[in-house]
Amino acid sequence: MQVEEAIYSRRSIRRYSPRDVPDELVLKLIDAARQAPSSKNSQPWEFIIVRDQEVKEKLAQLAPYGRFITQAPVVVAVVTDPEKSRFHMVDGALAVHNLTLAAWALGLGTCWIGTMDREKAKEILEIPEGKHLLTVLPIGYPAERPQLRPRRPLEQITYLEKYGRKLPEHHG
Ligand SMILES: Cc1cc2nc3c(=O)[nH]c(=O)nc-3n(C[C@H](O)[C@H](O)[C@H](O)COP(=O)(O)O)c2cc1C
Repeated sequence: MQVEEAIYSRRSIRRYSPRDVPDELVLKLIDAARQAPSSKNSQPWEFIIVRDQEVKEKLAQLAPYGRFITQAPVVVAVVTDPEKSRFHMVDGALAVHNLTLAAWALGLGTCWIGTMDREKAKEILEIPEGKHLLTVLPIGYPAERPQLRPRRPLEQITYLEKYGRKLPEHHG
């Protein structure tokens, strides 16, 4: 799959088939993640592969909009280090999106889980205090085909030269 096709066809996936995602594949995705750019090439990211169903269930309890992660065969927790990079969350997000697009190109779905009790989740995963738990990312073969969620129109989000100056109608 070409990058453009992956960008335009990707959807967040919240229902997964029970089909396993082997470690080689997960490592391939983490390998794609670590190719992302990062501030000063700090690469302030680490990844925990979680397969233990009990652990997934505990994490799901801490994520009000991520209960469905229990259905995914594997969950990857993404940890970033504020001491390694002032932009650790940005760096981490770029890595996550690399992983997400690489996964999609291989027929796999993911969904960023944002809201969670991070302190409790860090305890469960034994993440050291100084590190940040960016997200827990479920990965699995999609068992749904979600519709495209609407995007704000280009002309509403793009200006010419100065903030607020609309593009002329014929532009582009
Ligand atoms: C920072 C961030 C946090 C998110 N948190 C959640 C979440 O907690 N639960 C969830 O189901 N989706 C979550 N999402 C997924 C968004 O809802 C989704 O990306 C958005 O609705 C657009 O849909 P699409 O990804 O299918 O294009 C999150 C996405 C981002 C980028």
